[in-house]
Amino acid sequence: MAAIDPTGTMPLTTEQHVVLTRQTVRQLCQQIKLSLVEQTKMITAASELSRNTLIHGGGGRMRWELLARDGRAGLALHFEDEGPGIADLKLAMTDGWTSGAGMGLGLPGSKRLVHDFVVDSAPGKGTRVSITQWK
Ligand SMILES: Nc1ncnc2c1ncn2[C@@H]1O[C@H](COP(=O)(O)OP(=O)(O)O)[C@@H](O)[C@H]1O
Ligand SMILES: [Mg+2]
Repeated sequence: MAAIDPTGTMPLTTEQHVVLTRQTVRQLCQQIKLSLVEQTKMITAASELSRNTLIHGGGGRMRWELLARDGRAGLALHFEDEGPGIADLKLAMTDGWTSGAGMGLGLPGSKRLVHDFVVDSAPGKGTRVSITQWK
């Protein structure tokens, strides 16, 4: 399979995009030769966050960046939307808390699965969640 570009963007406005996102993240993980365990963690987190972008954020995009720091490869993913934003981040990061009908584990669970996790959100402006997995 042809290599994916080191940086890129894909839309997240349909369920099909969520599926495509998962496939792309898998391929990116394989490209930097992440272990199967780290791949699975990253794909699971990407799956949760892309669904959040679609459902809670009203659609947005995923940007990716292949990284190299001190000879170490990494993959950064940014899930971005211009939706309603998150009013109470602390609450949103609580296990089991959902504003809808979810399980409330997407954000806190994703944080536990990856090496770096940053949420940037403002009510009325939108949300960006960035995650990074290092090799
Ligand atoms: N992109 C987003 N835009 C707006 N709100 C969000 C976004 N992502 C998460 N949230 C808020 O954070 C809550 C917790 O998210 P999560 O842990 O994934 O649980 P769930 O998706 O099951 O509700 C959501 O219920 C929602 O209120
Ligand atoms: Mg969720």
